[in-house]
Amino acid sequence: MNDHDEHAYRIIASVDEITSFPATITIDRDPFFLVQTGEDAEGYRLVSAICPHAGGLVRQHENELICPLHFWAFDPLTGESTNVPGERLECQPVEVRDGHYTIRTNA
Ligand code: FES
Repeated sequence: MNDHDEHAYRIIASVDEITSFPATITIDRDPFFLVQTGEDAEGYRLVSAICPHAGGLVRQHENELICPLHFWAFDPLTGESTNVPGERLECQPVEVRDGHYTIRTNA
């Protein structure tokens, strides 16, 4: 591994297989949403679908992500709660590489 390649990347989906956003993706059995935050190739984010309150499975409802257990709501683009200040879904940046959506790993 050299300086240019100090981070490892993991493919999470093919660009061709995602036709709309937010897209649901499962990684290691954990659910996520792949969201588009901008028009450029860097404009993607992976948002956890696990609610930070008590682990409910967040679902898309109209323009928000909603947890059905106690109705915390989240902005899909930022992961920030829209009705519980200071709370947010975990997010990480996504990069497009060679026709694939990828995330950085700690390897
Ligand atoms: S577990 Fe999601 S709002 Fe309570």
